[in-house]
Amino acid sequence: MMGLSSEAIGRSMACGAKRVFWAAMMMAVVLMALTLPVAMAQPAASSVTDSPTYKRGRLLYIQCRACHDLKPSPVEKVGPNLAGLFGRTSGTAPDFGYSPALRSAKITWDNKTLDTWLEKPGTMVPGNIMAFAGIANSADRAALISYIEVESASR
Ligand code: HEC
Repeated sequence: MMGLSSEAIGRSMACGAKRVFWAAMMMAVVLMALTLPVAMAQPAASSVTDSPTYKRGRLLYIQCRACHDLKPSPVEKVGPNLAGLFGRTSGTAPDFGYSPALRSAKITWDNKTLDTWLEKPGTMVPGNIMAFAGIANSADRAALISYIEVESASR
């Protein structure tokens, strides 16, 4: 017989299947290369830390940063460490020398109390020693408080 032997047909089919396999692999690699950066960018784009409010809060926090840390730190600043602030009673950060006024105020820090404090610390707790006049804009206070809530939470 002059035609292809069954062995040759088998070999050429295997070869064709191999080509299809590699073509599919290449497609998969290209697809992954195209979609991976998008897939990786997605969680960040929808996360809290990307919101305009968070960014505004982070900017406003620059005013507080010289005196306060939001993460536990061995370094003592001028003001008490604010790590774990939400739910904490005022004047209770360990080893900080609070004023008698803030120590005896017994405020539980949450969105509402922080808003009052940051509007005018001297009005909420007369005699406190935080050298900060306050933030008049309520939207700015809300942004700053939500930033502090995220960053001061222990993770
Ligand atoms: C010049 C330094 C300084 C700046 C600026 C400052 N603070 Fe303070 N802060 C202090 C001091 C000192 C105390 C303690 C006051 C006391 O004992 O009477 C304090 C207390 C606090 C407390 C109460 C903490 C606790 O443990 O009860 C909060 C909350 C707070 N500050 C938030 C802020 C935020 C938010 C800002 C920025 C808008 C800010 N502070 C800016 C120095 C500062």
